[in-house]
Amino acid sequence: MTAQQKKINAAQLVIKKIKPGMSIGLGTGSTANEFIHILGKDKNLSQSLKCTSSSNQTIEIAKNYSIECLELDQFDYLDITIDGADEIDKNGDMIKGGGGALLREKMLANISKEYFIIIDDSKSVKTLGNFPLPIEIIPFSPKSTISQLDKVFKKYQMISQIEIRVDATGSNFITDGGNFIVDCYCKKILNSKELNPEIENIPSVITTGLFLNMSSSVIIGYDQYATEFNFDR
Ligand code: 5RP
Repeated sequence: MTAQQKKINAAQLVIKKIKPGMSIGLGTGSTANEFIHILGKDKNLSQSLKCTSSSNQTIEIAKNYSIECLELDQFDYLDITIDGADEIDKNGDMIKGGGGALLREKMLANISKEYFIIIDDSKSVKTLGNFPLPIEIIPFSPKSTISQLDKVFKKYQMISQIEIRVDATGSNFITDGGNFIVDCYCKKILNSKELNPEIENIPSVITTGLFLNMSSSVIIGYDQYATEFNFDR
């Protein structure tokens, strides 16, 4: 069974949460895309919704199904946001941003009444950190930001190699918001709750890929089925 089928199984379970007329945040990445493919085929449902998206890439995918993504400014809140994750632990804390959409993903999550994460079972981990932690930073003087990040990691006895993300052409990757991303190879993040605010306190850091205490439900797709875990937030 392929990872794609596991993602489809998770997406098929989460679609049951969507009711006509809801306001929906559409996440970014291959798993979120499976959700959009399923939603898009249900014209009655998809055309009744008010949607917004976490990336330009998702806007284009939604367009294939005539799903219009409105500006986030049009919403005071979202009923549900559906998104994927790069890693998630048993508390529902996550690393996100592998696709570079972390800032807008966090903005959507922040105004969502319910935040559903859909993943295949490979994303479920005991300890966060094997996946490199993405951090979105302003493009001005990235070396200075990196040296400040380095100091914070050292304070927590973490050895982290920090690399500016590059695209397929070798140029610095630019986010939809016009920023850079650095990927931090931490291996293990044991103290995310203390670490995260310190990182976000660096003036040139926009946000991190640590999504803590945010997910209301996680749906894990396996070979033949998917399972839902709920968190009291
Ligand atoms: C994009 C993200 C994605 O949700 C995350 O990278 C998972 O992607 P995929 O479903 O393709 O594995 O955070 O910024």
